[in-house]
Amino acid sequence: MLIGVPKEIKDQESRVSCTPAAANQFVLEGHTVLVETGAGLESGFTDQEYIEAGAIILDDAADVWAKADMIYKVKEPITSEYKYLREGLIVYAYLHLAADSNLTKELVDNKCVAIAFETVQVGSALPLLKPMSEVAGRMAIQEGARLLTKPCGGKGMVLQGVPGVAPAHVVILGAGTVGTAATRIAVGMGARVTVLDTNVDRLAEVGDIFIDKIETLISNSFNIAKVVKDADMVVSSVLIPGHKAPQLITEAMVQTMEPGSVIVDVAIDQGGSTELTANKEADYHAPIFIRHGIVHYLVANIPGTVPRTSTQALSNATTRYALAIANLGWKQACRKYPELASGINTAEGYVTYKPVAEDLNYELKNIQELINNKQIYLLQSKVRKNG
Ligand SMILES: NC(=O)c1ccc[n+]([C@@H]2O[C@H](COP(=O)([O-])OP(=O)(O)OC[C@H]3O[C@@H](n4cnc5c(N)ncnc54)[C@H](O)[C@@H]3O)[C@@H](O)[C@H]2O)c1
Repeated sequence: MLIGVPKEIKDQESRVSCTPAAANQFVLEGHTVLVETGAGLESGFTDQEYIEAGAIILDDAADVWAKADMIYKVKEPITSEYKYLREGLIVYAYLHLAADSNLTKELVDNKCVAIAFETVQVGSALPLLKPMSEVAGRMAIQEGARLLTKPCGGKGMVLQGVPGVAPAHVVILGAGTVGTAATRIAVGMGARVTVLDTNVDRLAEVGDIFIDKIETLISNSFNIAKVVKDADMVVSSVLIPGHKAPQLITEAMVQTMEPGSVIVDVAIDQGGSTELTANKEADYHAPIFIRHGIVHYLVANIPGTVPRTSTQALSNATTRYALAIANLGWKQACRKYPELASGINTAEGYVTYKPVAEDLNYELKNIQELINNKQIYLLQSKVRKNG
């Protein structure tokens, strides 16, 4: 298969889908990888490294799109890339189609096979989202610690304190992937950490991981108000799958915080989880906003700020399925890895992912019907042969 790796052109996106190491895996399995010149540079990978891995460098994005059977990228195609979509082209990337009716229409009209990283699902887990949550959780504390310094508008404290001076109090709302990663870094940096979740099992798990190093509390508005008032830094990392983030921190709670405290609203990509940040457009060029003296950090694509780490984490997670698609074709790959079928959002002119069909008013095509098409065809030809 010809696999195309274009340079990302969405604003502030510096990652690349495929590292030279991953490109080499495709080459070893007999495929051709076409990389747009400079695609890996912001993630620290030169064209020469891709060439040494066996990939071919092309100067022009149009060439990569035109020659490839599968476009393997990070973010959804943006408007200027729509012209490259064509029948049968596989597009494997983060797509977020429910929020993008124009792109959905283009993918359907052009009969592309659109495979969304974010909807590949194993049980309730989303394995191609998880590595980015791991990055975002770590970065939340790193960014929050920076914002606590005076020049950034913070109250001017170091997380660990020093002998004779108390450490900062970090409150983490949501003990999932982001919350656990944030807890790891906050504990490692010596902060006093309180973790809240509505799920007692999750609290038990983080409690077991960080024995004696954190306090856990069930999440409800009473407890949130109590700990937020005392917090130097709050990280909100809540998620109710399929829904907008709940607005857990009210403006009144924010007003009880000491000026110079910091709120890192990681859930801003799901609409924001404080009354003040809800539905606030995250602006990469101005990610900080200060209200009532509290410094709010709102970046919807935190992993994009650390492309070297994020690119490798993303490539590690996504390459496995890309290889399966390249080796087996998308239908056979879905039969081998049933979780990949939930990643197919459009195929053969249909919407095949229920939430996208529901949100954008498309008729839903059962993906299994398309996947099993070939089997039916083979069965028919066998019957014909035998008959
Ligand atoms: N801004 C970014 O760049 C970025 C990057 C990655 C993830 N995210 C976002 O971070 C959030 C968390 O992602 P995740 O992968 O950790 O999800 P996750 O499903 O692993 O964890 C979410 C946790 O929130 C808990 N929760 C739900 N309602 C709650 C409430 N009312 N109070 C306290 N806890 C509650 C759940 O029980 C769960 O443990 C999501 O909104 C995700 O979209 C943002």
